[in-house]
This record gives sequence, C-alpha cells and structure tokens, in this order.
Amino acid sequence: MFSRYLLVEASLAVGAAMAAGSKSCPVDSPLSCHNSTAVADTCCFNAPGGQMLMTQFWDTHPVTGPEDSWTMHGLWPDNCDGSFESNCDKNRAYKNITQILQGSAPDTLKYMQEFWKDYKGDDETFWEHEFGKHGTCISTLEPTCYADYKPTQEVGDYFTRAVTLFKALPSHEWLSEAGIVPSTSATYTLEAIQAALSAKHGKPVVINCKNKELNELWYQYNIQGSVQDGKFTAADPVGSGSTCPKTGIKYLPKAPPRPPAPHPQAVPPLSGKGRVSVSTSASQDGGFLISSGAWYRSKGATPATYTATPGSDGATFTLSTSKGKCAVQEKDASFTCGSGVSAASTFGYDGTHLTYDSKDTFYADKLPENNDQGVVYATQKAVSFQASWTAV
Ligand SMILES: *[C@@H]1O[C@H](CO)[C@@H](O)[C@H](O)[C@H]1NC(C)=O
Ligand SMILES: *[C@@H]1O[C@H](CO)[C@@H](O)[C@H](O)[C@H]1NC(C)=O
Repeated sequence: MFSRYLLVEASLAVGAAMAAGSKSCPVDSPLSCHNSTAVADTCCFNAPGGQMLMTQFWDTHPVTGPEDSWTMHGLWPDNCDGSFESNCDKNRAYKNITQILQGSAPDTLKYMQEFWKDYKGDDETFWEHEFGKHGTCISTLEPTCYADYKPTQEVGDYFTRAVTLFKALPSHEWLSEAGIVPSTSATYTLEAIQAALSAKHGKPVVINCKNKELNELWYQYNIQGSVQDGKFTAADPVGSGSTCPKTGIKYLPKAPPRPPAPHPQAVPPLSGKGRVSVSTSASQDGGFLISSGAWYRSKGATPATYTATPGSDGATFTLSTSKGKCAVQEKDASFTCGSGVSAASTFGYDGTHLTYDSKDTFYADKLPENNDQGVVYATQKAVSFQASWTAV
C-alpha cells in the first residue's frame, strides 16, 4: 500500500496525471532515444518511436480554426533517426473517434472541435487518419500496456496527451511576442522565426512552408515513461529539416480580407411638394426661398411651395414653383424660377441639404433685410447658405 502511494505521488511529481488503467511506470525510466542498452518494457519506454513530434498547422486557404491560433496536426512517434513506422495495427484503425471520445474524454473532444481541424471540414476522418497512422505505432499505448484493457481505451490517452502538449505550445502568441504577426505584406526570415520559437520550446523547431508561406511547425520531444503519463523533454529535431526559404517568408492572416466599406446609403432624389428653408451662419433667422427663387427673410411672409420631379437617373430632380421651372442661369449662375426658364436645372439632395453640381452651398451678395428679395447664386458671393427641404 505504502509503496504504491509513493509511486503515484512520484508520477504526479513529474507533471502528469495517471492515465486510468494504464500501468504506472518507474520514475527512473530511461529517456526515449537515449538508452545505451535495449529496454525490455516498451510500455514504459517508447520504442522504436521514441522521438515524439507535436505538429501544428497554420491553414490560410482555406482557413481552419481560430484566427489567432495554430491548429493541431498530430502526435507522431518517429524513430530516433527520423524515419518512422505507420499504420501499425489495422484492428485499431477506429472509425468512431468522436463517439469514443464522447464517452472517454469529452473535454478533449470539445477542445479538438475548435483546434484540431481538417481543412476539408471532415474532422472525424482527419482524427481517424492521425490515430490509425501514428497513434497505433506508439508502443506505450498498446492494449497490452493496460492492466484491464477495454477496446479503444488508448484513444482518449492519445488525443488527451496531444491536446495537453498543444496547449503548452502557443505558437501564435510566441511569434507575435517577437513581432512576427500575420500580414499580407510583411515577410520574415527563417532565423527570426526559429529564434522566437526555439527560445520558448528550448530546442530548434522544424519550420515548414508552402509557397514561401509559413504553414507547419514540428515540435519534438523525447519521453521518460509512457505517452499517457510520462515526462516530455524538448528534443533536437531528427530527420527532415525546415522547408522554408531563409528569407521572404510570409505569415498570412487567417482572417478573410475585410469586405470593403459599404457604399454610403444612396439618398433617393427629392420628389413631390416641399418648402425650401435657408440656414446661414450670418443670421439666426435664415428665412426661405420664395416662388421666384429669391431668398426672403421678412417676418409673416409665407414660403413658396416647390415641386421636385425626380429624373430618370434615380438621383437628381428638377424644381418648379407656381411661377415656372427653376434653373441656375448660365450667364451669371443666379437661381431663378419663372416662365422665362425654358430648361430646368437638375439638383441633388445629400440627405440634409439641396445640392447643385454636387455642392451644398449657395450664395447671395448680402443677407436680405426687410423686404429684400435676395438673388441666389450657385457661385461664390459674400454670404453663403445651405438650403433644406421640408415636404408639405
Ligand atoms: C533502446 O531500446 C530499444 C528498445 O528496447 C532497442 O530497440 C534499442 O536498440 C535500444 N538502443 C540501444 C542503443 O541500445
Ligand atoms: C468504436 O468502434 C470499435 C470497433 O472499431 C468498437 O469496439 C467500439 O465499441 C466503438 N465505440 C463506440 C463508442 O462506439
């Protein structure tokens, strides 16, 4: 009883929880790929796949996973020389990883659904592939390593260990701390990326590119004890090196390009009857336009009723009063309504003010006083004003 307690405590002390049902391993198990003689118990010693890779993706086209995180690729047992075995047990190439994890490791499954993403959108098949190809080659996960093995029991251990390792490797955060952030235009050097990552991992990382775009990272470990509850130690890479060029590496954003700002809401042209009131910084009392088109500010007078008729372009309109059509005269840019006007000018409305030639400012020589009927111009004069429309 006493010695078993000690063993459990020692196992926790190396930073791992006991995987239910798997054999507990002696704390002084040799480090994988570092034994000088054969180790018989491959339930406590990962062999031949003693070089464990935690691999991550940065998928931008199509995008997978959160914008600010790498995603999981797999947990791979490479041999100590970088070669590897694959598909080691056809009988354990399970086709129901989701169901298995729902029962045995629901929290792991939930995390995987966010961070272990297939670029084609078929996560289950991706997970089946990873476990069937790589998981079945991990010696410490073999059924014989479990005291009272229940079929599929090792699946939760594989995926939970992969998730635990992944959570401790926040690549996006590590890169951004070093100023390496996703960008459509910036480029980075392999040296800078390597420096940022290996400073955190403790050993060089295999950095892979596709079309000079940063795409995959391989973090490597050796293990003391089992994958289930052993101690992982960062290891120098073995096997193939980084596939990125030395310079000009892109780290593309996962966020899709922002859609262009929506067009300002098109303001429909004025239509029907209304009054034209004037606002000017020259006086509190702006007054209004009368039927001749003149500006009038005298108390007690009645604003004219203007009629706006939309044009066929869906944006402009013409104006008329009881006196006749309104136009900005060609000769002096004065605004006049009357029987003498043969061709009406087109005006616009910006949602607040009437516009002529896309400008919302009109002018007069002076502020009209008493019974002045101020001539309104579309070209610059001493006094400026804006004209608003009130439908009647
Ligand atoms: C390490 O142990 C494994 C598994 O027993 C064995 O295959 C391998 O040859 C050993 N390595 C050395 C250098 O003895
Ligand atoms: C998953 O499939 C295996 C057979 O490949 C079976 O033994 C196991 O019961 C299934 N598990 C679940 C949860 O469906």
